[in-house]
Amino acid sequence: MSTINHPNFGAMNDKRVIIFDTTLRDGEQSPGFSMNIDEKIRMAEALAALGVDVMEAGFPAASPGDFESVSRIAENVKGVVIAGLARAAVNDITRAAEAIRAAERKRIHTFISTSPLHMKYKLRKEPEQVLEAVTSSVTLARSFTDDVEWSAEDGTRTDIDFLCRCVEAAIKAGATTINIPDTVGYAVPEDMLRIFSTVRERVPGADQVILSAHCHNDLGLAVANTLAAVHGGARQIECTINGIGERAGNASLEEVVMAIRTRPDANPYHHNIDTTRILRTSKLLSTITGFDVQPNKAIVGRNAFAHESGIHQDGMLKNAATYEIMTPESVGWQKTSLVMGKHSGRAAFRDKLNTLGYGDLGENALNDAFNRFKDLADRKKIVYDEDIVALVDDEVVRG
Ligand code: KIV
Ligand code: ZN
Repeated sequence: MSTINHPNFGAMNDKRVIIFDTTLRDGEQSPGFSMNIDEKIRMAEALAALGVDVMEAGFPAASPGDFESVSRIAENVKGVVIAGLARAAVNDITRAAEAIRAAERKRIHTFISTSPLHMKYKLRKEPEQVLEAVTSSVTLARSFTDDVEWSAEDGTRTDIDFLCRCVEAAIKAGATTINIPDTVGYAVPEDMLRIFSTVRERVPGADQVILSAHCHNDLGLAVANTLAAVHGGARQIECTINGIGERAGNASLEEVVMAIRTRPDANPYHHNIDTTRILRTSKLLSTITGFDVQPNKAIVGRNAFAHESGIHQDGMLKNAATYEIMTPESVGWQKTSLVMGKHSGRAAFRDKLNTLGYGDLGENALNDAFNRFKDLADRKKIVYDEDIVALVDDEVVRG
């Protein structure tokens, strides 16, 4: 792959992956997740501190509120490229250009559908008309900024020859990033690898632009599909915090960046995310939207670094690498938690007594306390520190 000279990122190392966050646009589009302007600004500042390269701040033509929030983010949030979304329409593109005007570094992201289904039923346009719209929309966007992203909506269900013609037209008109979204989450990783490799090999100029993946999670494959696209040549990943987004959501930022950080052998790429800020960014989004992630959510769920089974707790006490593939601190958790419940073993119980300040109780008292703890754990889902304190104090008093 040759070196790409990008208007906002300069000469790009071939292994560098741009993280494009769309929490404030595609994420905010999901039912119940809308945010007011102040909340969007708080979230935008957190995303900038997290180290995202591009932030899609909204869809300025969608509503006056969206226009206002994109403008305020463009004025106030520094150190990151601010993107505004626009359909292939003059009004959308001009509104996006106005909204991002104050940004230090800016991008217009314009899109049109390219799949047979979308062209026929949604756009009611012939393929040749869509091709003309690609050229005119990108040309107009380029008159406002030299950083223009073009997206083929429903790209993964598009005829590959037509997709290549559209990508070629967008590049000729001046697009610097080409995004091929899996809009309805239909693709499997093999499709992504094939589509990105084909576009990169076949389209003249494709090696001089950034290819980008934007995956939805309808089959739970958004992260796997995103990584497959990167293997096929994509160097921008579009994602959201906690994976929020239309329907089943978008590729989750925390999962995709940790898959790259944790498995450099399988994913030999790098990004600029400060992973130690992941948890607080996830929690901020949950607080703002009122939606918690599920307990077993990778990286940020409350159980992601919690261990209850006796065998696992024993392993963890000997060496954390036995059951953890990354440290909790690397993504912002304080520490691993050994949850005391009916599956916990004697080793974890003894360790818990130590951390609660009991020292060595002696083998008999320890055994009694452990048996009573197991009885209690059969009745209660989680045994809290206070329960153990009460139980051991009682044991000591009964002596
Ligand atoms: O999913 C999609 O196709 C989109 C585009 C607007 C990029 O969100
Ligand atoms: Zn999308």
